[in-house]
Amino acid sequence: MSIRLFDLAPDFDANTSLGNIRFHEWLGDSWGVLFSHPADFTPVCTTELGAVAKRKSDFQKRNVKVIALSVDSVEAHTAWISDINETQGVELDFPIIADPDFTISHLYGFVHPNASDRFTVRSVVVIDPDKKVKLIITYPASTGRNFDELIRVIDSLQLTAKYSVATPANWVQGDDVVISTAIQTEDISAKFPKGYRAVTPYLRLTPQPDL
Ligand code: BEZ
Repeated sequence: MSIRLFDLAPDFDANTSLGNIRFHEWLGDSWGVLFSHPADFTPVCTTELGAVAKRKSDFQKRNVKVIALSVDSVEAHTAWISDINETQGVELDFPIIADPDFTISHLYGFVHPNASDRFTVRSVVVIDPDKKVKLIITYPASTGRNFDELIRVIDSLQLTAKYSVATPANWVQGDDVVISTAIQTEDISAKFPKGYRAVTPYLRLTPQPDL
């Protein structure tokens, strides 16, 4: 099986480096990031887990819970976390799922058999508080993920969940946003009191509403 945008994120029981969890219950009312790793004790994954641990406060302030998955055992994860902490200068304190029989990896489509049937690819899934899948990005095992980009997309998703806006190409916090085409021009002033600029009748920009 695989997952697609706006699907309900599949629920599952898992053994993790921080004990057993039921995924949806563990997520609670938070946003979630689930990211897969090809294997423990691999160099790129080690840097990625360190990078995520360093961004702890960025995820926390966005109400995002982070959980990793690798197809090795809890015992292997525990030993690997010591290495990650030592080599990356972090205190990794989010759970890493042990998925030795690939059950969860198959549920989420993290195994791409033409890449490898022994390793998962490097996928990252963002889940909203309704447990809906809002983002899936997949990288090959040889490319470490860009976690600045992940945070940027989470900011966009959280903004668009709250306001009738979308974010344009290369948008970052503080840039103008695009007013939804569903909003009639005559309704813009009431909804967007900071004003707007119409580049074309369908491309209307307004200052970021939550700043
Ligand atoms: C790595 O994390 O370094 C890695 C894992 C599997 C294949 C290639 C690289």
